Amino acid sequence: MNTRCDSHVFVVFGGTGDLMGRKLLPALAHLKRNRLSETPVHVVGVARDRERTERSFREWAAAAVGAAGFDVDSEWCGRCVHYQTIGGRSSEDFAALGERIERIESENDLPGNRLLYLALPPSGFEPTIEGLGSAGLNRGRGWSRIVLEKPFGRDLESAVRLNRTVHDWFDEDQVYRIDHYLGKETVQNLLVFRFANPLFESVWSRDRIRSVEIVVSEQLGVGSRAGYYDRSGALRDMVQNHLIQLLCLTAMEVPATFEADSIRDEKVKVLRSIPPIRDTDVVFGRYTAGTVQGEPVPGYLEEEGVPADSRTDTFVALRLEIANWRWQGVPFHLRTGKRLRKRLTRITVRFQRPPVSLFRPYTQCRLSSNELVITLQPDEGFDLHFEVKSPGQSIDMRTEELRFRYAEAFGPLPDAYETLLMDAIDGDQTLFVREDESEAAWKLFDPLLNREDLRIHPYPAGSWGPREAGPFDGEKPSDKSSRAEYAG
Ligand code: BG6
Repeated sequence: MNTRCDSHVFVVFGGTGDLMGRKLLPALAHLKRNRLSETPVHVVGVARDRERTERSFREWAAAAVGAAGFDVDSEWCGRCVHYQTIGGRSSEDFAALGERIERIESENDLPGNRLLYLALPPSGFEPTIEGLGSAGLNRGRGWSRIVLEKPFGRDLESAVRLNRTVHDWFDEDQVYRIDHYLGKETVQNLLVFRFANPLFESVWSRDRIRSVEIVVSEQLGVGSRAGYYDRSGALRDMVQNHLIQLLCLTAMEVPATFEADSIRDEKVKVLRSIPPIRDTDVVFGRYTAGTVQGEPVPGYLEEEGVPADSRTDTFVALRLEIANWRWQGVPFHLRTGKRLRKRLTRITVRFQRPPVSLFRPYTQCRLSSNELVITLQPDEGFDLHFEVKSPGQSIDMRTEELRFRYAEAFGPLPDAYETLLMDAIDGDQTLFVREDESEAAWKLFDPLLNREDLRIHPYPAGSWGPREAGPFDGEKPSDKSSRAEYAG
């Protein structure tokens, strides 16, 4: 079914919120200028504020698009961007919303397709889904799709409950659970990299790979999001979703077809093959005051809105294994944190060392294992590290790299939200998280959540994390400090 570019009404709950202003409106405005230029799209921002007028909402929307660096199409903004209050989320409020959408559809001769986007805090999900369903907004004349922002639940139990509520009203093929990492070009390219290049796929297993490391390091602190973050922490906010998605794409088997369910089936199999993570294989951390990019920054407990007795983690490093034929015995190291030294998202695949130490008698050099370093942000690209002989009589070796950078080959990459919005409009669920996938990920981490007995180690803002997490130096193209090296 090719539904690309169907005209529709794009309804955003949390329509005056941060995500709408920073990501959704700019993404949509940019799409309207290129891929959706011929497609009628009406946006309805929905929020609880009863005082806000349509005019002030349009002004705010135009300012948000401009602030993101895109040209504002004032004609479109003035005609196709609307505001509707959902007030106290009563059934009358949802009925009024339904009438408003129908009016927009009939006045503009739209076919009745609706993209319902929930950019809400977790407490808003269930009442909004119930409200939509009770008002009949789960079905329309055309297609009706619901997009759910993360976090999808806060543990296994709440995720299962939320899935049940969703399925009371929507079929799974109407549901688009967002993990914006899946919209990043470099993340999507993992599939092409693996499955279009037999060179790499032929060595992609425990026979040739020694370990895999997945790092998402952020310089930002919690900023103004303490209310959300303090109930979440790094394990829920980053590992259960973004890092796990990177892990799945790195480790999954070749799907039967390049279709949403085939790909998602393979990702779920990876999650189900991971044995329980041992307490001793996890290190939690929390930043204390320090310096990031030359600026002094407060510690997490001093951030505005964070309770002084908070037990929230802002850093996690963990080790897990995937007990299947391809990966048995290969450690996967995951590491993420806020207020670390550098912004960096990177997957490092370390290959096995040569089986025979051929050069040992002739050199004092330490031979490193080959590495494939996939940098997802910033400076997106790949580096393949290998050993070369330094010129001269003696056998001296050095690690060099083959280097590819997206920016050099293609210029700037599209924003993840543009890709994901376009896919949701197109009805393509490949880059969205399926029900069983989200539950399998929660199941893995549930035993580590809400544990009073797990220590949280302090680390100064601007460092690479707590000492207990082991050595790491993301300044180097790859973390040579933690590479097991040996005299070859
Ligand atoms: C979000 C988390 O999902 O991802 C944030 O809630 C985090 O805490 C962000 O900062 C990181 O995304 P990116 O695209 O900047 O790596």
